[in-house]
Amino acid sequence: MSEIRLEGVTKRYGTFAAADNVDLAVTQGELVTILGPSGSGKTTLLSLIAGLNKPTSGRIFIGGRDVTDAPAQERNIGLVFQSYALFPHMTVLENVLFPLGVRKIGRAEADRLARDALKLVRLDGLENRRPSQLSGGQQQRVALARAVVFKPDILLLDEPLGALDRKLREELQVELKQLQRSLGVTTLLVTHDQEEALSLSDRIMVLDKGRTQQVAAPTEAYLKPANRFVAEFLGIANFVGLPDGGQALVRPERIKISSSGAGKPARVVEAIYLGQMVRYHLSLDGEGAKPMVAAAPFVGPAYATGERVMVSWDAADLWPVAK
Ligand SMILES: Nc1ncnc2c1ncn2[C@@H]1O[C@H](COP(=O)(O)OP(=O)(O)O)[C@@H](O)[C@H]1O
Ligand SMILES: [Mg+2]
Repeated sequence: MSEIRLEGVTKRYGTFAAADNVDLAVTQGELVTILGPSGSGKTTLLSLIAGLNKPTSGRIFIGGRDVTDAPAQERNIGLVFQSYALFPHMTVLENVLFPLGVRKIGRAEADRLARDALKLVRLDGLENRRPSQLSGGQQQRVALARAVVFKPDILLLDEPLGALDRKLREELQVELKQLQRSLGVTTLLVTHDQEEALSLSDRIMVLDKGRTQQVAAPTEAYLKPANRFVAEFLGIANFVGLPDGGQALVRPERIKISSSGAGKPARVVEAIYLGQMVRYHLSLDGEGAKPMVAAAPFVGPAYATGERVMVSWDAADLWPVAK
């Protein structure tokens, strides 16, 4: 088990930089998520760390060892992709045994390790099925078992839950986090889903156009984003003008609505019922800009579309955002 360190890692295709001078340190046992839109360079970074691709410049360290020039098979990394990439002609057990065979682990020991790994992802009993006889969630569990069975130094997961429907994805997020924690394996997970990043990570690295925008704990990135891109990528962002001409971020759940009382007069343009929450689009009087978005638990008074309300927020809930 090991930490990961990137120093000034750049990957160019011609003049285009898919990864641009990226620094990152993931500590032993930590789960860091690389979050960014499609094409921001997430897979590029993982493939550089895995050794499937070579950086144009910069160095990559795993467990303190410079692996920049080491081939993939010398890096002892567990990999999981969005497409499960299971061997279709092999059984579940044979799929999980495969990396142990490559590593020349004896039959009895391999069998024990593979069965342990399958138990860990709650697939014991399904050893003799083929991938086509499993659900998407079960297939991804096999892929996870196969990635951890040889006790990798680090685990790299590229949108591992991306192909699953929402409910299953949320269940597997919890399982994945528990598995990662129980193994204590240093993990980098790639996603474009901000909720997934916020809920799973010890820290989030936000990436845009190959460049690091921020590396921070989820709450910090959400409430104190380093710039406007991070503010908007990590959720709904309302921007409020400041006296010095700058702008401040206020998140929807920090906005207070009342039918009378202190604040700015506004009209409810849209009230959207979301189950646990109601989301309000509010048009503030005299401010023609785009509506402010507020979110409130669906317990207190619910305001109707067209209703006049008062809107306020605490100064402490404002975060000045850099351009
Ligand atoms: N082999 C390649 N040749 C040229 N451009 C590439 C290559 N691989 C990736 N890219 C480009 O690098 C950028 C980042 O790609 P990628 O890392 O796959 O993004 P992400 O995983 O965040 O969606 C994209 O613009 C992509 O088109
Ligand atoms: Mg990708």
